[in-house]
This record gives sequence, structure tokens and C-alpha cells, in this order.
Amino acid sequence: MTGPDKNQAFPLAGHDRLCFLKNVIKNPQIQVGDYTYYDDFEDVRNFEKNIKYLFDFVGDRLIIGKFCMIASDVTFIMNGANHLSKSISAYPFAIFGLGWEKAMEGKRYPYKGDTVIGNDVWIGYGATIMPGVQIGDGAIIASKSVVTNNVAPYTVVGGNPAREIKKRFSDKEIEKLLHLKWWDWPIERITRNVQNLTGDQIMELI
Ligand SMILES: CC(C)(COP(=O)(O)OP(=O)(O)OC[C@H]1O[C@@H](n2cnc3c(N)ncnc32)[C@H](O)[C@@H]1OP(=O)(O)O)[C@@H](O)C(=O)NCCC(=O)NCCS
Repeated sequence: MTGPDKNQAFPLAGHDRLCFLKNVIKNPQIQVGDYTYYDDFEDVRNFEKNIKYLFDFVGDRLIIGKFCMIASDVTFIMNGANHLSKSISAYPFAIFGLGWEKAMEGKRYPYKGDTVIGNDVWIGYGATIMPGVQIGDGAIIASKSVVTNNVAPYTVVGGNPAREIKKRFSDKEIEKLLHLKWWDWPIERITRNVQNLTGDQIMELI
């Protein structure tokens, strides 16, 4: 026995509100690792609907690692949402054309890069992740947070804008966990260690 099949869309028998996300994603700009799950109160297809302003002509990507836990109503705002903000007006004249297309000549809308979520990240209900944010392995995002800055590994953040609430472990322990990268182990080894992984004794895991 080595746990559920990572290639199955719905690993809980008779329950289709929780999915292994990589198996239901259609947009090639979204990449999701094994065992990362998404739970939705209504329909797991809402996940893609909640990735806002993701346009192929902008080309940014949402990259999510393995074993992440993503709650219902989590929203990702992507770079296509950005207007000019250092200009006199933020109004997007150029998109309307008809003599206004020149407005963007020699200019570019702000671009903050890909959104990157590490491994074993828990994103609480209704959180919003802003464009280009990078969230480190093992981080926890409190429910209803608006994450505007990068989040360090194994850090709990919350609020709007999300601020550090606490570190989950000491710096030394975090270093060990980041070195260990348990999410990349063969599934047999993970299965043997599920008891340790849900404990807090990092030395036992090592
Ligand atoms: C982030 C979270 C894990 C913290 O839980 P915890 O470790 O038990 O921490 P506490 O409840 O003791 O709260 C610690 C601090 O964080 C603050 N905090 C907790 N949740 C917060 C939130 N959503 N937004 C902002 N701050 C929050 C608390 O006010 C507290 O601050 P204080 O120390 O100044 O009093 C939890 O609050 C949370 O948001 N869980 C997500 C639940 C969820 O959405 N689940 C979806 C199903 S998977």
C-alpha cells in the first residue's frame, strides 16, 4: 500500500469536491505537482475560474509544487490584471484603439513574473495571492489573507497585506527540512514515514 494514486482526479471515493489538481487542470500556463489537492464547496472547476487575468498574450505561469493543500475560494491574481500605476492616469486607453492605440507605445504594463508556490504549502480558505508572489516550501497562508509579498519557507502569514505570524520551526530545523525535501522521496519512503511526517520530531524523520 503506497497511498492514493496521484494520477487519479478524485482520490476520495464517492466525493468529487476534492481533487488531485494536476489531473483536472487544462490551461498549459498552470503547472501543478503530484498529490497537491484542491477542495471546492461547489465544483473543483472553480479552481481555474479563480485564477484571474491569466492571459496567453501575457505568458505568465502559475507553478504549484507537490503535496500542497488549497482550500475553496483561493484566488490567484495574475499579471494581466496590472495597469500602469506610475503614470498620470492608470486608464488603459490603448485597448480601445480608434486613435488611442498609441497610448502604450514604448511602455509596458507592470510585470512581476510567474507565481510560484512551493511544496507542502497550505493555502487557507479564501486567500488571495497577488501577481509574481513566491511562496516557500512548508508555508501556511491564513484564511482570507491577501499575499502581496514573497513568503519564506515554513512561515505562517496572515492578514491583508499578509504579514508573518510565526515561523513553524527554528531556522536550523527549517534548513534541515529544506535539505530533506521529503516531497521528492519515492512514495514508498513517504508511506513508511507518514507517522513521522505528521509529528514534530525532525530528527526522527532524518
Ligand atoms: C493561520 C492559521 C493556521 C493559524 O492557526 P494557529 O497556528 O492555531 O494560530 P492562532 O489561531 O493561535 O493565531 C496566531 C495569530 O495569527 C492570527 N491569525 C490567525 N488566523 C488569521 C487570519 N486568517 N488572518 C490574520 N491573522 C490571523 C491570530 O489573530 C493570532 O494573532 P495574535 O498572536 O496577534 O493573537 C489559521 O488561523 C488559519 O487561517 N487556518 C486556515 C484554515 C482554513 O482556511 N482551512 C481551509 C480548509 S483546508
